[in-house]
Amino acid sequence: MKTKADLIIANAREVLTCASAAGAKKGAAMLETGRIENASIAIVGDVVAGVGPASAIETQFESKKVVDASRRSVVPGFVESHTHLVYAGNRVGEFELRIKGADYLEILAAGGGILSTVEMTREASEEELYRQSGARLDKLLKNGVTTCEIKTGYGLELESELKMLRVILKLGREHIVDVLPTFLPAHAVPPEWKGREDEFTDNICNEMIPAAAAALGSESRARSSVREESPGSRVSGPETSEYAAPFFIDVFCEKGAFTLDQCKRVLLAAKECGFQIKAHVDEFTNLGCARFAIENGAVSIDHLDATSDAEIELLAGSETVGIVTPTVNFNFGSTEFAPARKMIDLGCAIAVSTDYNPGSAPCPSLQTAMAIACRYQKLLPAEAVNAVTINAAAAIGMEPSVGSIEAGKQADLLILETGDYREICYEFGWNFVATVVKGGKIV
Ligand code: NIG
Ligand code: FE
Repeated sequence: MKTKADLIIANAREVLTCASAAGAKKGAAMLETGRIENASIAIVGDVVAGVGPASAIETQFESKKVVDASRRSVVPGFVESHTHLVYAGNRVGEFELRIKGADYLEILAAGGGILSTVEMTREASEEELYRQSGARLDKLLKNGVTTCEIKTGYGLELESELKMLRVILKLGREHIVDVLPTFLPAHAVPPEWKGREDEFTDNICNEMIPAAAAALGSESRARSSVREESPGSRVSGPETSEYAAPFFIDVFCEKGAFTLDQCKRVLLAAKECGFQIKAHVDEFTNLGCARFAIENGAVSIDHLDATSDAEIELLAGSETVGIVTPTVNFNFGSTEFAPARKMIDLGCAIAVSTDYNPGSAPCPSLQTAMAIACRYQKLLPAEAVNAVTINAAAAIGMEPSVGSIEAGKQADLLILETGDYREICYEFGWNFVATVVKGGKIV
């Protein structure tokens, strides 16, 4: 007797499972895509029940609903591991200033840049912020993103940061894309605290972090009780039976933003409250935060443009994922990029992200980020695919349930308008996503 599946994706020219027995893929393992030619995928509920050669799946499963993918590649739904997509307005004016030669950190020091988005975001109503941000998450979904991390950091005072957090959590509840929240109160020093950075850091540690922890803790409990009430309605793999949504703390360790000492205080205070650590490090200046974050069990360290060889070695020997954001360098018109090739060669696990935000990377396309990573950071398409699936999932602690096409994992996958996945890096500027399957449903 065949097992009844709710959906079968049949006879794909190739399926890239990106399967990994041990979480993020490090070093040479980033070349392994788990490619199966002429393959099918059986889905039961919202979970992958089987993936393998078409003949094997056909013997084992039957379904009333079969999608023919004979000229297509199928890959895991993309995981966007680093965004700032909740904000109001835009920075098109700043874009023009930078074209004429203005510098990103100088604009910030003069009260613009991140701080101009802070002004617009503080002024926006929660509804308006939700509307603008939802439209951006729609763009990511159209470009193949099925799981997305989103940061706060344009409020920079308690009420506005909590407003941003509520918008992120509401997107998580209401949008098709799964959303992981990151609290980033140490993103820039707002005008009212200028010159009193240490006091602002105290305020973050003593007021903002406990308030955010309370908001996130109750959301996480609410999500896990929904899961208990309807077993099997989400991921039912054994690894994910104790579902608790991870949430993160992040800092911007940079000249003109926060010092290493201030970042340490924020990260440790948040760790105490149950946050997992992420950090913007070495985007322009190496202030030493990469080492501190890795040694304190960071789930990811992000940017890594100015990271030292010693820190790269430390990263390679750790469980931390290095997230590179080549769209930022591209957007700055730079030809210098984080040394991702070297990092992979030295054994690191690397994820690629757009860093979708209004200033340094107004880009909702992970396929564009992959195309840039291949050209300027010398990733092969196979490495780029792992960098936006299984490794990106590990960079947000979600690899037990998403990031690869494996029995027991959430059925999040993309049917591409090509039979050769390498084309999504090769022919750039085009969206190759023909169909998104999210939690077993065709979107
Ligand atoms: O990752 N570097 C700090 N934060 C963002 C940029 C945010 C902005 O420019 O609005 C980044 O590049
Ligand atoms: Fe960022």
